[in-house]
Formats: sequence, C-alpha cells, structure tokens
Amino acid sequence: MLDINRLRADTPGVEEIIHFNNAGASLMPEPVVDVVIEHLRLETRLGGYEAAARAVAELEGVYRSVARLINARAEEIAIVENATRAWDMAFYSLPLKSGDVVLTSTTEYAGNYIPYLQLQRQRGIEVRVIPNDPQGQVSLAALRQMLKDKHTALISLPLIATNGGPVQPVEAIGALARDAGVLFLLDACQGAGQVPIDVQKIGCHILTATSRKYLRGPRGVGFLYVENDLCQTLEPAFLDLHSASLLTPQTFEIRRDARRFENWECNVAAKLGFGAAVDYALAVGIEPMWARIQGLADYLRTGLQQVNGASNRDRGAVRSGIVSFTLDGHAPRQIQQHLAAEARRINVSMSSAGSTLLDMTERGLNAVVRASVHAYNTEAEIDLLLEALDRIARTRA
Ligand SMILES: Cc1ncc(COP(=O)(O)O)c(C=O)c1O
Repeated sequence: MLDINRLRADTPGVEEIIHFNNAGASLMPEPVVDVVIEHLRLETRLGGYEAAARAVAELEGVYRSVARLINARAEEIAIVENATRAWDMAFYSLPLKSGDVVLTSTTEYAGNYIPYLQLQRQRGIEVRVIPNDPQGQVSLAALRQMLKDKHTALISLPLIATNGGPVQPVEAIGALARDAGVLFLLDACQGAGQVPIDVQKIGCHILTATSRKYLRGPRGVGFLYVENDLCQTLEPAFLDLHSASLLTPQTFEIRRDARRFENWECNVAAKLGFGAAVDYALAVGIEPMWARIQGLADYLRTGLQQVNGASNRDRGAVRSGIVSFTLDGHAPRQIQQHLAAEARRINVSMSSAGSTLLDMTERGLNAVVRASVHAYNTEAEIDLLLEALDRIARTRA
C-alpha cells in the first residue's frame, strides 16, 4: 500500500503548486534534493575532484540501483547527460548500412525520428512506420508481416509517447524482434519510474531513459542499457579517455562495459541524486505507483467527460499517466497559461505536433494539453484542475 501522506510530505513542492507536468520534469522528493545538495557542499569544501573521490562507492551504487530498476546488470548501464544523448550514443553506434530497414511507431519522438532521417540521407537506411491496430497501438499483425522483409535490422520505438497515448505492448514486440533476429531499441523515457520495466521480459537489446521525469531525479542525467553481448560488438560513435584507453601513440582499447558510451566529465551531484531517486522509487514500489498513476489518470479522463467541449485524446488498450486533451475554442497554450495563473498554480504542459509529428498529423491535431499525473498527486488536486477547466470552458475563446 502506498502512503500518499508520506509521499507528499517528502515533496515540498506540493505545498505551493499542483503539479501535473511529471512527464516534463517531476517534483523531486526531499531525500533526492538532500543528496544533491550534500554533494555540492562537499565540492565547495573539498574541491570537485576530491569530493568525487570520496563518493566512489556511492557512484558505483548508482549503476547497481539503475540495473535493479530494469532487471539488468550494473555493467550493462551507462549514465549520461539525458535520454537523448543515451539514445544517440546507441543508435549512431549501430552498424546500420545502405538498404537496412528501421521500423518505428507512429508515436515516435521527433528527437529520435530526425536521426533516422539523417542516417537515411547519410547511409541509405530506410525508415518504415508500423501501422496501429484499431485501439491505436502498434499492430502486432502488421509488425509480424513487416519483419518478413529480411532487410529489417532494427525496431525502435517509445514505450510511452511524449504526448500521451498507448503503453506499447513491448513484451510482444520484443518476442517478435527476437524471433526475427532483429535488434530492439526501446525509448523508455516516459516509462521509467512510471511502469514496471524488466528488460529480460521485454527482450529489448537497448533501452534509454531519463532521471527528471517519472523517476523524479535531478535534471541533466539519463541512462542507457545495452545488453552485454551486444555491447561488446558496438563501437561507440564517440570515444574519449574514459570510454577508451590510449595504449601507445598508435593504439587504443575500448572499455568492455556499457560505460564505453559515457564521457569523462559529468555532474557528479546530479548523478548521485539520480541514484537516490531510483532508490526512492524502488523503496516506494514501482508496481503500486503504476496502479495509482493509472487510477488517477482514469479519474481525470472520466472527469474530462463532464467539461463542456473537452476531448480526451489518448488511445491504446493500456493508457499511461499522461492525459492529453483539447478544449473546443481554446488553444492548449492559453489553457496552460490560464491554469498557471490560478490562485494555486496548476502546472500542465502542451505537446505540439513538432514533437510527435506522425501521430499528431495522422489524428489531425496541432497541439494538445498534457496533464501528467504521478503517484503523489491526489483526486482533490484533479478536482481543482477540472473545476478550473470548467471555468475556462465557460469563457469565450
Ligand atoms: C518519448 C521521449 N523520448 C525521449 C525524450 C528526450 O528525453 P531527454 O529530454 O531527457 O533527452 C523525451 C522527452 O520528453 C520523450 O518524451
């Protein structure tokens, strides 16, 4: 059972604001902030390098915590600046060549889709989009068919899209990928900390995610999982003196673990804070948080049905805590601004076509309001959001 009072007591931000932008950056719990600040203080007293030397054991612990979160091994984890850098480091290291086909979903994030197009231009790969089934998630039947093309080299898609939508059936996708002998790169940026993730069950070869969203860690940190066997065969697109060692003036050796995808300098305080955030999430329990997030999201979706002109825009058999909607006659940006101006500020965000172009174009949408709930949110907070939306709906656009 979740102790919501405890979760809220750990989250000082809830005293001031109602935060439904957990898909952007969540509110950090106090134990996480404490770890970050404590290390910054140590840096001011000892010096940055000297403070890092004191934290060697704790830093190693961060890899073990992340590995536990996704049921991987610590040597399969790299910790980098953000989810995009994690994803890029893996994607640009794959030996994709002319004629290779990459399969993705309509829900793909533009930050990943642009690199597909770049490699299409640079190396002659081809990107193909898996159609959706009637519920709006990846059609497994279509994927099965598409995998018959022997040029297919990679399936790469997000577990949960940035603008809401389905939780993709990744275990079934992973099984199909393994059967076909195709690599599976899973962008779990919106999933980590929100839904239980087990890379053994999913069968993905690579997974990427970030600290600041549903894991509630500090900004500027993300992580990459690369299955050990694959990791040994991938040569990172960028190397430095952390990911490799210079042996002679003519030779170097790349390190064997996933840290071959890291670079030397990093924000040590943020990395430690990220570890604390993962430990916090694991201590609270991902399963009960996921159940609560789904309950709160359903409560919000049901409430939206009573708001005049509101349309929930989420699809899929399993829906996440990211609730996307539009309100007739009111632009999402204006709604966001109105809510921010409430006596008790309500944070939501806006997702525009540019970040999930394929999905938004397919559904004829320019932008949606994105209200993303987390386990520490309450029904009472959602009621305040719904009341505020009701007032906005009553005003003329
Ligand atoms: C699905 C998805 N993938 C990747 C990213 C990029 O994450 P980051 O900003 O940590 O690089 C985001 C960010 O919103 C996202 O929603």
